[in-house]
Amino acid sequence: MGTIPWWQKTVVYQIYPRSFMDSNGDGIGDIQGIISKLDYLQDMGFETIWISPFFTSPQEDFGYDIAEYRSIASEYGNMDDFRELVREVHKRDMHLILDMVLNHTSKEHSWFKESRSSKNNPKRDWYIWKPGKKPPNNWKSMVFGRGWHFDSLTDEWYWAAFLPCQPDLNWRNSEVYNEMLSILKYWLNEGVDGFRLDIFGAIYEDPNFQNNPFSPHLFPNDVRGNGVFQSTEMTRNHPDNFQLAKKLRTFIDEQSQHHAWMVGEIFGGYAALREFCGREIPDGLHLAFMFQTVHAPFTAAAYRKLIIEAEQWFPEPYCPTWVFGNHDMNRRITRLRGDRDKAKLDFAYQMTVRGVPFIYNGEELGMTNGEIPTAQAQDGVTKHFKKYFPDWVVSLVNKQFNGAVNRDNCRTPMQWNPDENAGFCRTGINPWLPVNRSVQKNNVITEQEEKDSLLHCVKRFIKARRENEALKSGSLKLQPNIISSSQVLAYSRETESEEDVFLVLLNFSNKQQRIDLSPITTGRISVVVSTVLQKQKAAGFKLNRNKISLLPWEGCVLQYS
Ligand code: NOJ
Repeated sequence: MGTIPWWQKTVVYQIYPRSFMDSNGDGIGDIQGIISKLDYLQDMGFETIWISPFFTSPQEDFGYDIAEYRSIASEYGNMDDFRELVREVHKRDMHLILDMVLNHTSKEHSWFKESRSSKNNPKRDWYIWKPGKKPPNNWKSMVFGRGWHFDSLTDEWYWAAFLPCQPDLNWRNSEVYNEMLSILKYWLNEGVDGFRLDIFGAIYEDPNFQNNPFSPHLFPNDVRGNGVFQSTEMTRNHPDNFQLAKKLRTFIDEQSQHHAWMVGEIFGGYAALREFCGREIPDGLHLAFMFQTVHAPFTAAAYRKLIIEAEQWFPEPYCPTWVFGNHDMNRRITRLRGDRDKAKLDFAYQMTVRGVPFIYNGEELGMTNGEIPTAQAQDGVTKHFKKYFPDWVVSLVNKQFNGAVNRDNCRTPMQWNPDENAGFCRTGINPWLPVNRSVQKNNVITEQEEKDSLLHCVKRFIKARRENEALKSGSLKLQPNIISSSQVLAYSRETESEEDVFLVLLNFSNKQQRIDLSPITTGRISVVVSTVLQKQKAAGFKLNRNKISLLPWEGCVLQYS
């Protein structure tokens, strides 16, 4: 086993900048706000921060519609603020990765304005244009409805994989290709440590523009893709994207002397994810989001299956990712019906399984969904659906799609304290989205004071992971032979160089479970960390007679030699 790169051992925290911390009183989060909270993030143990886009943008998709790739939107700050952020992050031995939207720009980008202005414009071919009275083929967008949009200025259709205000760039044009790479280089030179790549599998489509074949599914999902009776064969995860992943890997490795890394937002099954990371050797994207987690039922069997699949598709030197929430879906604890014990167990799994954990801001507090009705939603996707359907239908579709059609609900302001505006912005100012009603008991200050809070539990598990190499980078082995109940998940983590083995026990039931550890060791065993505060107090102490009782929903890590 070679040396494991830093990014395989890190813990990533995603910041949605608009909702994180407002420093200048406009009700919108900003870069100075992020800087003011770096001590909190460092104290929690988050090592890498990924910030959703803060580039110049008309904000029709809140930053995922970029109008200028080398500048910062004025509501978030300026390049001086950004440089200060990089310095402050690095000063704390933390890392920063940016969110890069390579697939499309905003309609307001000067490139698109030029491109649409005439068929002879030098930038015409920078986007995907097709003539005809009817749309060129049957391709649908990811957000419902046709992905082709007619532009009466030149009487042609342009392709947009996401919202109509986000025209796709034509990566088959070498000028586009070179320009996008030079943008990545620009930010690497500014000191960033890597990139999260937005809808990476949508960059190249079928070059012959063939129709997408029929699919029997009405509803698409993150993994299958296919939906509304159409497959995504021609529009998603086209093999040319796998090649792009390899080219970018070479480029990023060269530019950063193998320091920086990329994680791709990819929707697809494990085979596709693996292709993006390199089929035979890891020569593609460093990591790919595994959204399989989001659809897994909360049971030991389902989580065991996730491990088996992750180990099968991403054995060392590949590395799995563990994603349970982000700015596009219902809050994790809302999906767990508000159950904090289950949320603790979920984090215990995420922090101890082999791979890189990604935590969305507020999840460490157990922030719940907001309650923003469809009629008031600011999300571009909600507005898009409202063009086709009445509000009640949009709300139903939103339920069916795990909150992906009204994403305001997972983007409400970060809850720093119990005040009216949650400490996100000054009292008397209107935050861009209303603060959750749960703020009084569910905020950083209150949870810091309460020893048994979710926040403290998350912090303990991150600390255990950081202090023990085996939990960060050790190999993983399922331990079925010690489990007497199908509701307990057990696995061990170990490195070649360390004597001690770490055993993770997760009780996915509301019953106490007695575990006999003698099949794996008769030696010394001690508790490293537990989701249950009482057990935590026993950390470091030797267990009696190789037996342990797991409390309902308890997750714990033991160490033995
Ligand atoms: C995926 C991002 O996570 C989402 O927020 C965005 O709206 C789309 N890509 C389009 O860029």
